[in-house]
Amino acid sequence: LGCFTYDPGFIATAACKSKITYIDGDNGILLYRGYPIEQLAENCEFTEVAYLLMNGELPDATQLRDFNEEISDRAIIHEALRKFFDGFHYDAHPMAMLVGVVGSLSAFYHSDLNIKDPASRIICATRLIGKMPTIAAASYRHSIGRPFVYPRMDLSYCENFLNMMFSRSSQNYIDQEHYIDPNLVKALNLLFILHADHEQNASTSTVRMAGSTGANPYACVAAGIAALWGPAHGGANEAVLNMLAQIGSVENVPKYIAKAKDHDDPFRLMGFGHRVYKNFDPRATIIRKTCYEVLSRTNTSDPLFELALALEEYALKDEYFIEKKLYPNVDFYSGIIYKALHIPVEMFTVMFAIARTAGWISHWLEMMEEPTTPISRPRQLYVGPPRRDYVAINNR
Ligand code: CMC
Repeated sequence: LGCFTYDPGFIATAACKSKITYIDGDNGILLYRGYPIEQLAENCEFTEVAYLLMNGELPDATQLRDFNEEISDRAIIHEALRKFFDGFHYDAHPMAMLVGVVGSLSAFYHSDLNIKDPASRIICATRLIGKMPTIAAASYRHSIGRPFVYPRMDLSYCENFLNMMFSRSSQNYIDQEHYIDPNLVKALNLLFILHADHEQNASTSTVRMAGSTGANPYACVAAGIAALWGPAHGGANEAVLNMLAQIGSVENVPKYIAKAKDHDDPFRLMGFGHRVYKNFDPRATIIRKTCYEVLSRTNTSDPLFELALALEEYALKDEYFIEKKLYPNVDFYSGIIYKALHIPVEMFTVMFAIARTAGWISHWLEMMEEPTTPISRPRQLYVGPPRRDYVAINNR
């Protein structure tokens, strides 16, 4: 191996120093800038947490008001950017649109961008946090053939997103439907907080890796969105709902548990297992509780939630899952809440992306503050053929 170690999947490699998020996987502890996730989830609004991640301290009332105004102010997107959506087929996956449209921000907002200037970097960060819900909602509206809804400055971050998603007229629909129920807005706020950051996960590492080359930050975040999309990462929330639908009923649980344990079968229990958490995922514990609350408040019972509970109970008693320390992760129950909020399944990973933008851009800001940032350039273990001579095409 020479002077480097072979570590596929970076299981034992710390690629950077960071002050943002701490995880103790053995004890199920997650801290943002030192604050326990449970306390932030209970008490904060999402933008307050975004401010904390970006700046290192919780804002005071004036700082939060100014930050919220800044985010609202930046929520509008360029009219020409809206036309991008016309180029996508109506059945394009919203994540595909998100990757493309967020990447295109680099072509729209470059004149005031100077990545060497801290003030310019903050503008870029707030612009991304502000515009992400607008782009996300626009991708959904395009997929259902409805006109886009402009962001409203008088609504909170979560209310504004729900309004842009579900309004049937151009505005003011928010107070006519159940989704303005403050308890449901609270549930969405909580999900956004829980998904806001998670140290060096695959998408954040991608943003850092792209950023280490000095690339345009909007393009770096688009790279992060692409990495998030996979079912082993943020795509798991969509995969969980599809899996529960496939399992269908509690009687089928043993059959699917057996499939998940069979190494010759590609089926895995989606929403189970985590690279770092080996006892429980503290986010899953909070989300499970919130599922009960949301379903009881909306007076609905979701058979998929009953099925998820049965699947969890069954798996946690199974020797295979116990031995491999596989527990429900953040994505196992989040989809049940999104479903109760009437968010369509193909938007689940987009929801994750909206929240994680705060984390991505905080990591990019932290990296850019370093006096020098080495380009991320892993080595490899070459296992190809040894040196050999070219053979002319007629002699092969
Ligand atoms: N179902 C069945 N077996 C599993 C599962 C699962 N969900 N997860 C891991 N295993 C087994 C795996 O087959 C392997 O067995 P063996 O040692 O006999 O080969 C062992 O457990 C270790 O798995 P691994 O894939 O080497 O572990 P990892 O740390 O590389 O992967 C993971 C972590 C999250 C990718 C994986 O657990 C997984 O694929 N889970 C399902 C997808 C999922 O829920 N992803 C969301 C992760 S949390 C949110 C996020 O990051 O976005």
